Amino acid sequence: MAITEAGTYHIDIRPVQESRLQGIDFDSVPFGRVFSDHMFLAEYKNGQWQQCRIQPFGPLPMHPGTAVLHYGQGIFEGMKAFKDEQGNAQLFRPLKNWERMNMSARRMALPEIPEELFMEALTTLVRMDSAWIPPGEDGSLYIRPFLFASDALVGIKPAEEFLFMIICCPVAKYYNKPVRVYMSDHYVRAFRGGTGHAKAIGNYGAVMQPLAEVREMGFDQILWLDGYEFNRLQEIGTMNVFVVIDDVVLTPSTEEKTILEGITRESCIILLREKGYQVEERDITVPELLNAAREGRLTDAFGTGTAATVAPIGEIGYKDEVFTLPPVDERPVSIWLANEMRNLRKGHIPDTHNWLFRL
Ligand code: COI
Repeated sequence: MAITEAGTYHIDIRPVQESRLQGIDFDSVPFGRVFSDHMFLAEYKNGQWQQCRIQPFGPLPMHPGTAVLHYGQGIFEGMKAFKDEQGNAQLFRPLKNWERMNMSARRMALPEIPEELFMEALTTLVRMDSAWIPPGEDGSLYIRPFLFASDALVGIKPAEEFLFMIICCPVAKYYNKPVRVYMSDHYVRAFRGGTGHAKAIGNYGAVMQPLAEVREMGFDQILWLDGYEFNRLQEIGTMNVFVVIDDVVLTPSTEEKTILEGITRESCIILLREKGYQVEERDITVPELLNAAREGRLTDAFGTGTAATVAPIGEIGYKDEVFTLPPVDERPVSIWLANEMRNLRKGHIPDTHNWLFRL
């Protein structure tokens, strides 16, 4: 049994013989390609989480019939650990990730993960690999919890066996220059009643081909529109989107459940409102955005996300037109917000919201 009498999960720990950390240059790690020494695994069988363990990072033996490989019944989360000025490791709002992971799990017929299991797995793993948290201003340890159907069964039915894992990557900035986005009036990411609000793996797999097309056109990402009329902004796939029109900060509402309920998104809305900005969560239509861009009233646009943090948008493409945003250093909203988020997570300013979780 994995659960102890005290109600906490027992995790078997098998540490590496020798760390791979030596020789890793934190300043030049490509995002998501370098992994820390250990990984966490827990199996769900017979209605119970069991065999919780931390072991050296490495490949998984997998049955070719494993359900997730065939039907995409899987979800993931993204979170980060930072080091403050004193070198203490901390997480940013980890319980929000736990809540969202379980929301995604419910949507994808996966078992929920008890808070104790999630937090114990996360804190034990990140403490063990805390030397992998880059110390620099823009460095962090990107943490990827994920959960998938592990039944060896090529038959269509919700699975009964599952694997919950956590792996970690030291990362630097996700975007090094303003992001060029294209609003597709052809492809769709999410629609009402779908899985757009969940971190379902299929949401990401399904956009790879449209993404390859816009990359060919010279853009970095797609700014997704609604799937009914291609008229309302949704999100950028790697981030939620914000625009500043007539000094009002606008971001699509999450009500329709077609966009991700970003934790960075929510934190940014709180910080912006506290700073005195007017923030509206509502529909933003393509004509509203394009008219504002043409008339010089679109003064800022940025994405927010765990990986990307606060990333300025440099260009917005639509059909045959490209709208260029003002230079990054002329954008008080995103400059202030990016600094505030960095200062907060690095412990340079007081954590008045209790968002940091000390490890
Ligand atoms: C994250 O920000 O955590 C995401 O899942 C987005 C992905 C591009 C890394």
